[in-house]
Amino acid sequence: MHPDLDRVLITEAEIAQRVAELGCEISQAHAGHEVLLIAILRGGAIFAADLIRQITVPTALDFVAVSSYGEATSSSGSVRVLKDVQEELADRHVILVEDIVDTGLTTSFLLKFYRRRGPASIEVCVLLDKPSRRECETQLDYQGFEVPDEFVVGYGLDFRQRYRGLPYIGVLKPEVIGEAGIA
Ligand code: PRP
Repeated sequence: MHPDLDRVLITEAEIAQRVAELGCEISQAHAGHEVLLIAILRGGAIFAADLIRQITVPTALDFVAVSSYGEATSSSGSVRVLKDVQEELADRHVILVEDIVDTGLTTSFLLKFYRRRGPASIEVCVLLDKPSRRECETQLDYQGFEVPDEFVVGYGLDFRQRYRGLPYIGVLKPEVIGEAGIA
């Protein structure tokens, strides 16, 4: 385990198993047509890379970058699109792929933003759900795990751009956040 972690919350094997199940659910729900995954950068890229390899229907991949948190540990409440998708969304079956839903602001903003482009359907697939922090109701169609209100990192999730490459999800030691001077 990484020395900055208090404990591992979800192991690499548990993630792999759940991602395979989610891929199966998506493939069954979308049998007979093509889907377009939109990974929400940056954290969602790691999850999307594994998820797309577990989906058996034809699947396109695109990316959106938004800014909501900056360098703080909680949401500022405002969402801005920094890099939009390249694909046309009209009449496509779109799935937003997110590493974590916390306040729900990012997903509810993007759902509204992309619904205006006339997709045939739009869904959300999230690996981690932290319902205790929810500020606005948001649609979640596929979810991996529910997590407690602790600072989780790994498998795409960062603290100050570190730990995204850890193959598991862990809880950061409070002193690591404290030492950064923002806890
Ligand atoms: C995190 C996370 C989600 C969003 C969820 O992204 O990856 O995109 O916050 O929070 P919300 O439900 O409160 O809106 P972050 O802004 O930290 O960017 P990153 O993916 O580049 O780390």
